[in-house]
Amino acid sequence: MSAGSVGAAELWSARADAYRESEAHRQGPDLDLLVEWSAGASSALDVGTGGGHVARRLREAGVEVTTCDPAPGMRPDVVCGAEHIPFADGSFDVVATRLAAHHFADAAAALRELARVSADRVLVADNLFAGEAAEEAERLRDPSHVRTYTEAGWRELFDAAGLRVLDVRVLDLAIELGPWLERAGCAGAEADRVRALLADRIDGGRLRLDRICVRGAR
Ligand SMILES: C[S@@+](CC[C@H](N)C(=O)[O-])C[C@H]1O[C@@H](n2cnc3c(N)ncnc32)[C@H](O)[C@@H]1O
Repeated sequence: MSAGSVGAAELWSARADAYRESEAHRQGPDLDLLVEWSAGASSALDVGTGGGHVARRLREAGVEVTTCDPAPGMRPDVVCGAEHIPFADGSFDVVATRLAAHHFADAAAALRELARVSADRVLVADNLFAGEAAEEAERLRDPSHVRTYTEAGWRELFDAAGLRVLDVRVLDLAIELGPWLERAGCAGAEADRVRALLADRIDGGRLRLDRICVRGAR
């Protein structure tokens, strides 16, 4: 791991409890869809597991789940980033990642790794690119934000990883703005700037966003 990624891992470890408890992460239609798309699988890898919400939901559905995350404080089964996953080719029926891809340092390398360790399906859920103002707001709120992708961008990443895209859904969500800022320790003038950049998507204390879910197959 690079010095930068070690710093990011420490940052995420310090936030572990906030992400375990976060209402915005514990539930959502994207989680339901990942469970639906994992039907029939025996094994899964949850990449960038964070508070473990994908893993929990898949285990409840009877899937044997392994978790990985570069932040030891998230207590994953394996400490690793998506760009270097220490499992053999085809180790899991499903490889899923939710709300972690916008932190990947190298999304193309990560997608290739997700595809490599999957025997069948690769499932991604992440926030959809919403313009440069939104990207600036995300980086200001959380310096570990790298970037989000458009649907076309995701299709290219899947294609370059040798995965066929079988389904794409874009879900409208609204999350509580205050806790979203607090989880990343964003306050004061920076929080004001973030609110200004996102003004057209803030409604009654909630932030509207689109979440893209992509189902790919090897
Ligand atoms: C928003 S949190 C976790 C979200 C979680 N998957 C969920 O559904 O609630 C993002 C996670 O991505 C992890 N992460 C950051 N960079 C990563 C990378 N390069 N590869 C994999 N995970 C990464 C962080 O450590 C953090 O735990």
